[in-house]
Amino acid sequence: MPHHADSYLLPTSIRTKSQFWEHVISNLVPLLDGQRHWVTNLANTSSLVYHSLLSYPTFGDGPSSVNWCGFYIVSSLFPNPKIRMDHCAASNISNRLLLGPFCGKPACQSIDTTPGRGQGVCADAFMSRRTIVVPDVETYPGHIACDGNTKSEIVCPLILRSSGNEVSLGVFDLDCLAQGSFDEDDRTGLEKIAQLVVDACDW
Ligand code: SME
Repeated sequence: MPHHADSYLLPTSIRTKSQFWEHVISNLVPLLDGQRHWVTNLANTSSLVYHSLLSYPTFGDGPSSVNWCGFYIVSSLFPNPKIRMDHCAASNISNRLLLGPFCGKPACQSIDTTPGRGQGVCADAFMSRRTIVVPDVETYPGHIACDGNTKSEIVCPLILRSSGNEVSLGVFDLDCLAQGSFDEDDRTGLEKIAQLVVDACDW
């Protein structure tokens, strides 16, 4: 039986991005099995996706490496969000995403999603409930630079669908050291992963 820690390894038969994402998804399904807590499932998802991308030639170690992979989640889903009210002073704590499980360097703790005031790729993807592919972060209005080395980014919303309603729970964010790194295959793969993770957890 393979170890959990080896699940990011890629077979040499994988040649395309769509094959890559299907492979990652097939490895993610058993990692989510038997667990409904979002912290645990998002932690393993960020690790699997990050290390799988580092094993894929386009994103592997080097100048075009993926450098961040993780989640921001609505603050109301965290336990006792009010205890941090003193840090949020005049802002409305319910309109915030907080840093969730991730792999990469330390990142900003929270992102404002107040309508008319929230800005950045994560806030836009969260509020529009649409995946945003950013080929060059320097040209994106309001981009929040957690790491000055990041050149491109993709952010996919986590959407809970129930009885015809859609609720944004947070976002899945990937950063890369090279410009133009993410494409439509990445959008398709990430959206499938986002849906899989949302359905695997009790929110
Ligand atoms: N760049 C994001 C912020 C999150 S970091 O990239 C991890 C944004 O503009 O919302």
